[in-house]
Amino acid sequence: MTTAPAGSAPVFLRDGQPWDLEARKRVARESVAALRRPQPRGLPRPPGPPALRTLAGMLRRTKGTELFGGISRDHPRIAHVRIGPEHIYVLSDPDLVVQVLLTEARHTTKGRALQQAKALLGEGLLTAGGELHRRQRSLVMPAFHRARIAGYAALMVEEAVAHRDAWQRRIEAGDVALDMAADMSALTLAIVGRTLFGADLSGDAADVGRALTDVLDGFDRMLVPGARVADLLRAPWVRDLERATGELDAVVARLITEHRASGDTGDLLSMLLASTDEQGGMADAQVRDETMTLVLAGHETTAMALTWAWHLLDANPAEAGLLRDELASLDGRPPTFEDLPALPRTRAVVAETLRVYPPAWILGRSMLDDLEVDGWTVPAGSIVLALPWALHRDGRFWPEPLAFRPGRWLDVEGRFDEGAPGQPRGSWFPFGWGSRRCIGDQFAWTEAMLLLATLAPGFAPTLAPGHRVDVHPAVTLRPEGGMPMRLRQAPAQP
Ligand code: HEM
Repeated sequence: MTTAPAGSAPVFLRDGQPWDLEARKRVARESVAALRRPQPRGLPRPPGPPALRTLAGMLRRTKGTELFGGISRDHPRIAHVRIGPEHIYVLSDPDLVVQVLLTEARHTTKGRALQQAKALLGEGLLTAGGELHRRQRSLVMPAFHRARIAGYAALMVEEAVAHRDAWQRRIEAGDVALDMAADMSALTLAIVGRTLFGADLSGDAADVGRALTDVLDGFDRMLVPGARVADLLRAPWVRDLERATGELDAVVARLITEHRASGDTGDLLSMLLASTDEQGGMADAQVRDETMTLVLAGHETTAMALTWAWHLLDANPAEAGLLRDELASLDGRPPTFEDLPALPRTRAVVAETLRVYPPAWILGRSMLDDLEVDGWTVPAGSIVLALPWALHRDGRFWPEPLAFRPGRWLDVEGRFDEGAPGQPRGSWFPFGWGSRRCIGDQFAWTEAMLLLATLAPGFAPTLAPGHRVDVHPAVTLRPEGGMPMRLRQAPAQP
């Protein structure tokens, strides 16, 4: 028994102690403190912009994409910037990105922002480090096995078809205005709910949806670089966050109990509960952390990728036409998992969207040891940043970097090929690298392709007149002020 008895607030236990918000905050504080190392005096540092007093102040005036994108442009290999007490290194050369995030990743751990997020997520895959991460990664991996993804695909298509029918009804009723970002978030949240928990969530959907929105907002605030964990955890919105995490904890505790009783129902939570290694299975508190992590990591990123895809297809009607030409091969029926290999252009649309608007636009690490990078000593305790946002849009590696050209991902025979654009390794990493690479990447490709293949044949949503699209670089790369669009029937195919 690893959850507290019924009747009391549902508290998970870890090593016999309550695994509640207080305990998680303590772990967050300790994890942040553990990153601190005395910085060597007089160490030569690579050139960079002048020191900033606080990043939070700077970010009020300049977006993170502009600030770090600018540093990247001005310093095409490695830059150093001091922000308050932090020494930050920005990597803008693909070889250096591969070195720090892949080949020598053992010298790094997740940055301060994600350590702070432990207060909310606990120690799931996104935030855990070291041995705990290694064990959890192998326990969670089976839930993302190809055969499992094929099972989730059927649920994804069911949700996509229901969404298609709802869009059709709205067009018929003349109710065509929507915020595509909110619309796609609702759709991917429904999919995460069904694939993760099975149909069980339906009764709680409204509560969970509301709690999650609060939690996501709180998560955004947690990730403000340079914010002090103590200040963050004292802020007034923390109360809302506590309430929201409490609600989610209650739902997850109930779902775990129900799933333990019913055995494998084919969903992701069943798989987490069934997964074992030589030390046995996961404790409920750990299942709780992984579940929160998967809900958060698995819904907003894909929703933003789809939102940007709709915008890019609208802005590039010829590309939208080519996509519909390919999807015409489905003859009006919904797509299946087995159709996906025969839809290279649909895959290329997703790849090109992830290039131009990478939902995970910045990746950060804290250095555990000193590391030689490009001839400089990057000392333990400093922060290293690698920006998909900057490298994906760098003219050194991408001809016409800002143009939406899905065709660049197709080889001469029209097959999808991640290497087709001829870019060096390290200049395209929407899902990160190595042992910290996104565990949900195949889930995300499958979901994004199936949703586009269901919705794009019939619809060509268009931007609300007068709206100027801009980025809002939050925890994911969101559109500033949402993505106001109007639903429209797609033009008939010739
Ligand atoms: C287009 C959609 C997605 C994008 C762009 C994306 C991107 C990423 C990136 C860049 C990382 C690595 C972060 C780092 O190195 O600091 C990551 C990690 C992760 N992602 Fe995703 N992701 C997406 C969808 C998903 C989905 C659908 C799920 C789950 C259902 C998921 C679950 C995770 C988890 C658990 C991790 C942590 C993995 C680990 O450290 O072992 N992601 N994701």
